[in-house]
Amino acid sequence: MRYLLLQFLAGVAAATSGSRLATERSHEVAVSRGVDVPSLRVPGCPAVASVSYNTSVPSTDNTPFPETKVDICYDDSFIRIKFTALQEESFYYNASVPTNGDIYDYEVMETFIYKGVNDPQTYLEFEVAPNNVTFSAFIYNPSKIRATGAAFSRFYIDDLVADQLSANTTIDRAKQLWYSNVQIPLGYFNVDEGQAKGTRWRMNFFRTVTSAETFPNQTYGAWSPPDEVNFHMTPYFGHVTFV
Ligand SMILES: *[C@@H]1O[C@H](CO)[C@@H](O)[C@H](O)[C@H]1NC(C)=O
Ligand SMILES: *[C@@H]1O[C@H](CO)[C@@H](O)[C@H](O)[C@H]1NC(C)=O
Ligand SMILES: *[C@@H]1O[C@H](CO)[C@@H](O)[C@H](O)[C@H]1NC(C)=O
Ligand SMILES: *[C@@H]1O[C@H](CO)[C@@H](O)[C@H](O)[C@H]1NC(C)=O
Ligand SMILES: *[C@@H]1O[C@H](CO)[C@@H](O)[C@H](O)[C@H]1NC(C)=O
Repeated sequence: MRYLLLQFLAGVAAATSGSRLATERSHEVAVSRGVDVPSLRVPGCPAVASVSYNTSVPSTDNTPFPETKVDICYDDSFIRIKFTALQEESFYYNASVPTNGDIYDYEVMETFIYKGVNDPQTYLEFEVAPNNVTFSAFIYNPSKIRATGAAFSRFYIDDLVADQLSANTTIDRAKQLWYSNVQIPLGYFNVDEGQAKGTRWRMNFFRTVTSAETFPNQTYGAWSPPDEVNFHMTPYFGHVTFV
């Protein structure tokens, strides 16, 4: 009897193992991808923490990416970030694309931000183009890797002025750079006035590069580069602490 039951269970296992194995494997990959990401300790303003990256996306691509800098600090009400794109050649944007339009198809600098320590499903995506146009939306990405066929929603931020989400962007062609000073309300993350010290975050920083000649092809850089051309892989977000 016992023997027959085992035989039966073995048969069921054999019949279902194909699909179950596939699911378990993809879960394992997503989890193990989170192991080796950078960390950053961010001070209160006017001190800043600075990161500089020239790493391409995907991480398997060893082509050097133009140097890109991020200076970040926090105050009572905002996360303040200065994005700097160095070694810039084309300053390529599309002046017809509006706020929250597809500026990411051209040249942008970006941050993805989540308050918490786990690999997030929901996070802010903020981008700025060389002409000062911004994209801001909260993302719902329950697969955490924007898996094919999985849910992926954007909740656009529609009142930048009242929210005091702002960017001030400068192009310096002589120095081959552009930079943008950005403020992002802490309230978006339920951090009350003056309460940011000690909070822990997951973030990543990105830049896209293209030109009139190479568009729509782009190259991609990241502070913590994922192993695919896909920015929406949250196990790769770095760990950030506001000290
Ligand atoms: C990339 O950055 C690393 C670390 O900062 C630096 O050692 C290296 O020289 C840089 N490479 C290029 C091509 O700029
Ligand atoms: C610029 O954006 C507009 C509006 O989305 C679009 O119609 C046009 O094709 C774009 N131009 C280029 C060069 O991508
Ligand atoms: C850029 O956009 C912001 C709003 O995000 C605005 O306050 C600022 O005046 C704009 N101009 C420049 C040159 O940065
Ligand atoms: C951008 O400039 C506007 C207008 O000069 C100012 O109100 C805002 O605070 C600035 N934002 C940042 C992030 O510097
Ligand atoms: C874009 O990349 C593809 C694939 O590498 C290439 O065939 C194509 O010529 C490129 N387009 C431009 C405009 O550079």
